[in-house]
Amino acid sequence: MAGGAAVAPGGRRQDYPGGLTPFVFMACLVAATGGLIFGYDIGISGGVTSMDPFLVRFFPSVYLKQAAAADGGSQYCKFDSQLLTLFTSSLYVAALIASLLAASVTRRVLLGVGVGFANQSVPVYLSEMAPARMRGMLNNGFQLMITLGILLANLINYGADRIAGGWGWRLSLALAAVPAAVITVGSVFLPDTPNSLLERGRPEEARRMLRRVRGTDDVSAEFDDLVAAGEASRAVSRPWRDILRRKHRPQLVMAVAIPLFQQLTGINVIMFYAPVLFKTLGFGGSASLMSAVITGLVNLASTFVSVFTVDRVGRRALLLEGGAQMLAGQLAVGALIGAKFGWSGVATIPPGYAAAVVVVMCAYVAGFAWSWGPLAWLVPSEVMPLEVRPAGQSITVAVNMLMTFAVAQAFLPMLCRLKFVLFFFFAACVVVMTLFVAFFLPETKGVPIEDMAGVWKAHWYWKRFVDDGEDADGKGDVEMGIVV
Ligand code: BGC
Repeated sequence: MAGGAAVAPGGRRQDYPGGLTPFVFMACLVAATGGLIFGYDIGISGGVTSMDPFLVRFFPSVYLKQAAAADGGSQYCKFDSQLLTLFTSSLYVAALIASLLAASVTRRVLLGVGVGFANQSVPVYLSEMAPARMRGMLNNGFQLMITLGILLANLINYGADRIAGGWGWRLSLALAAVPAAVITVGSVFLPDTPNSLLERGRPEEARRMLRRVRGTDDVSAEFDDLVAAGEASRAVSRPWRDILRRKHRPQLVMAVAIPLFQQLTGINVIMFYAPVLFKTLGFGGSASLMSAVITGLVNLASTFVSVFTVDRVGRRALLLEGGAQMLAGQLAVGALIGAKFGWSGVATIPPGYAAAVVVVMCAYVAGFAWSWGPLAWLVPSEVMPLEVRPAGQSITVAVNMLMTFAVAQAFLPMLCRLKFVLFFFFAACVVVMTLFVAFFLPETKGVPIEDMAGVWKAHWYWKRFVDDGEDADGKGDVEMGIVV
């Protein structure tokens, strides 16, 4: 699909005047810091659970199993403890519940300023603030902050582990307060999005805000579209029910499938358990934490590839390439671990071999970092029409958290039972999701967020849902301000 100022499939104009103003850049930067806290939490728990003083205190049985594995027992099962996985995964249940509450808060009170509801509000805030042709780049700021949070957590774990006296894990956990403070203070200064002001009945302020964020007075075309979308939104009193209607089926499918697939890439096996995994491979404690720092660095650096290309090459190209790369990475990791450990899990790995495992894991992480990492937050936030946007984003976050929880819960027991085959299982999931992208995900680069309806209408499969104009009240649909 063409970018720039071409004509969208729905026959509407595809871009509005105005560029990247310092104002919008700062607003997006501050909002994106919401990702820091998520990233820090992802990165911190895996490192802490590989620290001996922490294990001795909270999970003595795991500590003993580790000692047994060091004496020639199976490596695959040494961290298999329900309580340990619960420590890692419980956070995501809490986040799941918060994300469901966030929809009603962000709809009525402060769109984009939902302190503590960051994942629900930040991606939508970024997508609403950004000019269409830079939406991918600005939205990816969120993922950039997530990866920065993970890397900081990896580094802090590495340092904290070396603190004499064995209390480093306390520092790792306590420092989670820092990113929380950053977004809390930052959000006080965040301006509302024009969409949010309109929705709350303040059209003149909305127009002023739009001029300010776009850096031009020529905002009437975009403003009119926002007003039309706002009217369509007000006609819907129950977004949770509305998103279930047939005409929103494509968006509902994306809201569920995209986060589901993101977690089925198996990324959090590495993000949560990298130190544990490297220890499983026979690395020493400190080397394990260092390897986590390496994957963390690759994760952050590779996210920039998406930041700088997503609005040019598009979402689909990144997802297809990233999928192929992750597939190759998963197959290689499974093969390397299988060849050495076999079914028994009893082996010691020579240093060169272990380095090869780290290298293929990094190739896999890089593939994720410029595809499913950022795009699983971008795409759902940009495809929803305003009337179902908060509900849709809540579903996305809830499914993401549920699946994060499930993977965190399942990984250690699955590693113990499926052994190296577990990596082939994730590889199969990557094949399915890549086919899904190829056939069912339309390209959305450069299309103004309020004009997204045209994208579905032009899609070989989804057009049958949006074309019907089916409506329970028989009055036809008001969609994107167009009566169809
Ligand atoms: C995912 C997280 C993952 C992180 C890795 C995020 O987009 O939602 O589950 O740990 O990327 O960078």
